[in-house]
Amino acid sequence: MNNLLNQNLLLKGKKVLLRVDLNVPISNKTITETSRIKKIIPTIKLLIEKQAKIIILSHIGRPKGKVVETMTLEPIAEKLASLLNKQIIFNKNKIDKISISELNKISDGSIMMLENIRFYEGEELNNKEFSKKLSSFGDIYINDAFSCSHRSHASIEGIAKYIPSYFGLQIIEEINALKKITSEIKKPITLIIGGSKISTKIKIINNLIKKFNNIIIVGGMANTMLKHTGSNIGKSICEDDCSSLIEEILNNSRKYNCKIICPMDVVVSKSPEDIGVNKDIKEINENEMILDIGIKTISHIKKLLMIQIQFCGMVQLDILKTLIFKMEQNK
Ligand code: 3PG
Repeated sequence: MNNLLNQNLLLKGKKVLLRVDLNVPISNKTITETSRIKKIIPTIKLLIEKQAKIIILSHIGRPKGKVVETMTLEPIAEKLASLLNKQIIFNKNKIDKISISELNKISDGSIMMLENIRFYEGEELNNKEFSKKLSSFGDIYINDAFSCSHRSHASIEGIAKYIPSYFGLQIIEEINALKKITSEIKKPITLIIGGSKISTKIKIINNLIKKFNNIIIVGGMANTMLKHTGSNIGKSICEDDCSSLIEEILNNSRKYNCKIICPMDVVVSKSPEDIGVNKDIKEINENEMILDIGIKTISHIKKLLMIQIQFCGMVQLDILKTLIFKMEQNK
């Protein structure tokens, strides 16, 4: 796949199918975190500048091939429109009711967003006919959904077989960031990794164990690790049946001399709305849930990273200070 910055790419008047990841958290109809929406803006602005007819494809949640009203992309289209200060036509029509002539009417430099692509079974099944149908909506396809690119779904993988395909600015940025931990890696180096599912990251973790001095595990994944190593995590989110995956991580960390660090204290409460209390990992009650890492853990991470400063240049030092500042602000 080529990249969108390909200089010969003329997009004026072309229908560009842009796959992005707008899977943002929504609570009581309010978007609670907008960074994924903001991240796609540079690619959209470039497409506007190039006078393309932009057709946005995305998903939110896991509706499993059914229409789930609460998982509509409409509020996200509204948010994106307000961030861009530009109208976005939200097309609620079912895929089989969308006509090419309707799409041809999108004016150059304008944006249409289609409804949640996971409302269709064909998406997650990577169905051939569904992929072809999607591809028929555009002249070219751009994948700018880095965080979905591990999925063999129709709007990610299938579609690219039937239409000239490119990747967007966000993917270029992510690839450049990844180079810092692959071809351009400088030791000593520490990785902080979060998220809810260890099972989807096991391959990455095992691969990175070989390259990193320390891997700090936080978020829901840390809960799964803590539970496996005998801590009571109360009613915190965690994944079941991960014992063999965790053993694999721990064995590899010993083999490659990489320290795996989990929180030693955490912020807990009885519900996400309650005010959090800092507790040692051994003191969590059955009716409590882990919301964040605790003060002792932050200072431990800080010390670890400070040791690395001796080996870092100024640029990394700035990033490090920002990171520590953000962690402290979150407390
Ligand atoms: C994500 O939030 O990680 C991406 O949107 C992919 O979502 P998924 O895990 O439901 O495929």
